[in-house]
Amino acid sequence: MRYLGIGTAKEISKIGLGTWQFGSREWGYGDRYADQAAQAIVRRALDLGVTLFDTAEIYGFGRSERILGQALGEQLERVFLATKILPVLPVAPVVEQRAVASANRLGAHRLDLYQVHQPNPLVRDGTIMRGMRALQRVGLVGEVGVSNYSLRRWRAAEDALGSRVLSNQVPYSLVARFPERDLLPFAQAHGRVVLAYSPLAQGLLSGRYDPGNRPTNRVRAANPLFLPVNLQRAAELIAALREVAEAHSATPAQIALAWVIRHPAVAAIPGASSVEQLEHNAAAADIDLTSDQYQALAAAAVRFRPITGPAAIPQLARARFGR
Ligand SMILES: NC(=O)c1ccc[n+]([C@@H]2O[C@H](COP(=O)([O-])OP(=O)(O)OC[C@H]3O[C@@H](n4cnc5c(N)ncnc54)[C@H](OP(=O)(O)O)[C@@H]3O)[C@@H](O)[C@H]2O)c1
Repeated sequence: MRYLGIGTAKEISKIGLGTWQFGSREWGYGDRYADQAAQAIVRRALDLGVTLFDTAEIYGFGRSERILGQALGEQLERVFLATKILPVLPVAPVVEQRAVASANRLGAHRLDLYQVHQPNPLVRDGTIMRGMRALQRVGLVGEVGVSNYSLRRWRAAEDALGSRVLSNQVPYSLVARFPERDLLPFAQAHGRVVLAYSPLAQGLLSGRYDPGNRPTNRVRAANPLFLPVNLQRAAELIAALREVAEAHSATPAQIALAWVIRHPAVAAIPGASSVEQLEHNAAAADIDLTSDQYQALAAAAVRFRPITGPAAIPQLARARFGR
């Protein structure tokens, strides 16, 4: 395992574990996964040096936090524990109460990273940051983070907090590269972190899916990347991943992760549907891509032009209802 090395109280592993999958109906992994596999995944992650664990109050309506806390057990103090608040009514007393509720579900005395899940379009961050400041003062929260923030709003959040907002959790992968524009340069220049979510594009970059073999759960039924036409269009990018994977005796998913975390300010938080996937993901931290390999993948990614946005809506409906 490799670590960010940016002077946080606890080390942050370059590959973490995302836990939206734990107990969430929309991923459809079922009770056996929630009751057994999830625990085994967390335990194995600890063995392999993973310290970054990401959850949110909204995942499975609190189930993910409970499952994660239970699986971490006595190791909880050792890890860099990250959760998120959905800023629906982000006034200080509500923020404080919600942090306590998350900590209770996790069984934690302290949230190492407390993140604003998404920007509230109506309420400026001065409001939520009053609550965050109070939580830091009493020691319930270590670092404050944001998620799905633009650079402008990330900086505004820092001004409002009056100290660093350590991280911004955003989609970052070979098929979602907008953080390269300004978030990554900012993070690198100022000792901040970009937490890459959906680093495998929800499994697309594993190469496991194609137009004849599409995933069925609700999350991916709503994701235009899994439309047959887009899976077809992704074939060249998957082939490029396979070629690099062969050179490293690795899998396409591992290479996709190695590509994301090659940037020094990035840690990735892939989810995992099995212990085996978790093992592969953790091992990806130690893969060094050459500059040529990195560039070849970036170029293949530019050539991937999926149908997204409004143009994808009729096809999503057709794919969903079989018409
Ligand atoms: N802040 C936000 O708004 C936000 C939004 C989304 C996600 N997140 C966080 O980011 C985490 C990860 O994002 P994500 O779950 O959307 O996408 P992801 O990590 O890109 O994809 C996860 C899925 O990819 C497949 N997979 C994982 N490792 C694999 C491997 N080694 N080989 C082959 N397939 C593999 C698994 O699905 P199958 O095995 O079923 O194919 C797994 O469920 C979440 O758990 C959550 O913590 C945050």
